Amino acid sequence: MLYSHIPGSFLGQLAAVTLLAGALFNPAAMAGGMPVLRVQLDRIVAPVSPVFSGMMTEEINHSYDGGLYGELLQNRVFKDDAQNAVHWSLVQSPGSEAQMALDPVQGLNAELATSLRLEVAQASDANLVGVANDGYWGIPVIPATDYRASFYAKAAPGYTGSVRVAIQSADGTAVYASADAGPVRGEWQKYSVTLTTPANRAPTAGARFVLLLDRPGTVWFDLVSFFPPTWKDRPNGNRVDLMQKLADMRPRFLRFPGGNFLEGSSIATRFPWRQTLGDLTRRPGHPGCWGYRASDGLGFLEFLEWAEDLNAEPVLAVYAGYSLPPKNEVVKPGPDLAPFVADALDEIEYVTGDTNTLWGACRAADGHPAPFKLRYVEIGNEDWFDPSGSYDARFAQFYDAIKARYPKLQCISTVGNEQPAGKRVHSRIPDLVDEHYYRSAQNFEEEGPAHFDRYDRNGPKIFVGEWAAYEDIAPWLPPSAQLPPTPTFKAALGDAAWLTAMERNSDIILMQCYAPMLVNVNPGGRQWRPDLIGYNALNSYGSPSYYVLKMFNENRGDMVVKTALEPATALNYSVTKATTSGQVYIKLVNAGETPLPVQIQVAGVKHVDSTGTCEVLQSDKLDAGNSIAEPDKLVPVSGTLSGLGKRFTQTLAPHSVTILELQTR
Ligand code: AHR
Repeated sequence: MLYSHIPGSFLGQLAAVTLLAGALFNPAAMAGGMPVLRVQLDRIVAPVSPVFSGMMTEEINHSYDGGLYGELLQNRVFKDDAQNAVHWSLVQSPGSEAQMALDPVQGLNAELATSLRLEVAQASDANLVGVANDGYWGIPVIPATDYRASFYAKAAPGYTGSVRVAIQSADGTAVYASADAGPVRGEWQKYSVTLTTPANRAPTAGARFVLLLDRPGTVWFDLVSFFPPTWKDRPNGNRVDLMQKLADMRPRFLRFPGGNFLEGSSIATRFPWRQTLGDLTRRPGHPGCWGYRASDGLGFLEFLEWAEDLNAEPVLAVYAGYSLPPKNEVVKPGPDLAPFVADALDEIEYVTGDTNTLWGACRAADGHPAPFKLRYVEIGNEDWFDPSGSYDARFAQFYDAIKARYPKLQCISTVGNEQPAGKRVHSRIPDLVDEHYYRSAQNFEEEGPAHFDRYDRNGPKIFVGEWAAYEDIAPWLPPSAQLPPTPTFKAALGDAAWLTAMERNSDIILMQCYAPMLVNVNPGGRQWRPDLIGYNALNSYGSPSYYVLKMFNENRGDMVVKTALEPATALNYSVTKATTSGQVYIKLVNAGETPLPVQIQVAGVKHVDSTGTCEVLQSDKLDAGNSIAEPDKLVPVSGTLSGLGKRFTQTLAPHSVTILELQTR
């Protein structure tokens, strides 16, 4: 079989490989030990779930605040620190005098009870004073772009001045855009302006956002916000480059809001879905569980709209009465848990209820009259950690209430087959169980092919709701902090191997999603690695594992077909076919360091076209990866194939993920 149109350093290798393939394409050579992959196209193992591949998300690694959520200002409601206006600084010149402080008395309302007070003793048009926000590791300035700034302000009696809004270089020496927001009055009022950056301004993240005054007096500010253009122009929407990367993965579902972020470090700090709804002035935010406060600007409705914008369906995780170690707080099943079950039913009604229902009407009032499609509800997260062993009873209580009200909803248990039998739920059989796999690349490559074979085919379906390969050091071990935020090629090979294992077991695996998905790569930005997609204020990139997922999701049929590999451990692979078009997708992972010729024998079909296409992701170096500086170092390359037929030899490059697309009839 011949490749063509594959650019880059791989080409040289392929030339050698092609020759090698020619030499090996005979039975004598096969007897010499070449692995054989037999593909039986008329024998269906299982349909591939239409929702096989999705996204898992939570507020970790500044996934939303300082990530996907478009807001550019950090600590916009002055709640990130009770003593100091962190991320805000005073802007003064030699001819001006002012001070700023948090004001816990002059808040905008009960939810946003603290404001920022700016007291100006001396200022003039030539000597402005103000407050500056440094954003999330800088504020990105893109040329010729409209930014929406808004804030609430009020002034002490007698004040007559206006507020000037500007975006400046971080040191304040250059002004990139500015606008007058109008006079400030004695009562709280919202101000909005558009700032347009000049076309000749080079992109930079070295900027700050400032609110400036030109005269003495006292002004309070709250909910200060600065947005770039967003995906689909949604107000309060998401960052465009990251949404594009997610859309390119073709996700079929979004699992939210966690992960640990759902549970919180205590019952009191669990994900508070109700207080993440409605106008931003009513969203105080809450302490996240990953070391920083969540603004909840990307709140419950925004999760649903995010899924909707990507044609993905929500997989809603509801709080189930257990919060994280070390406290391990548990709500006792029975009457104590009843309000939490009722809360989950309200939450489901918010998602699915029509506008005649209380919570459906609330959703409509929030701007989304149409109900969302919801089929899967997950009861908690990783409840195998619950040392009290209460999950069986808690799950049963939620299950019964949800099924009574919503019989068609599928209930997902968070305790799967990986946990000891005593930890699993027995009282009610879950529709699915969520299993999490954070394992070494080597483990995924070696164990992947057989892992799911031992599963009870009559048991609950599997949702692999979190998985990722690490290279050698587990994410929760301290040395992990020294490694790059996104996976190297070594991990990507493990991820590809694990994906083939899951795809081949589509008869039991309904859904799977990599985790975590997003990471702000700035120092201090992350709490976990490896993560699929990295970014700073200005740019983003996909890791090699991101491209593995993208390749797999772009090239998948609707049926898994019967296959046999000899020897069985030669490589990781999966084969699917598209029933109507006759296309066959053969995924092959060579984790080894030498070229690997594989003979492919196709049966159960009249004809295989002699030409086809392929996509290959390859790296000579296992420790190579992508980064902000080199976003496209390792990306898949496409090519065309010739010499195909019912029997052909494909030589896989060392350290490679290859997808062959054959046309059959
Ligand atoms: O993905 C990171 C964390 O790993 C998730 O929050 C949690 O569910 C798992 O332990």
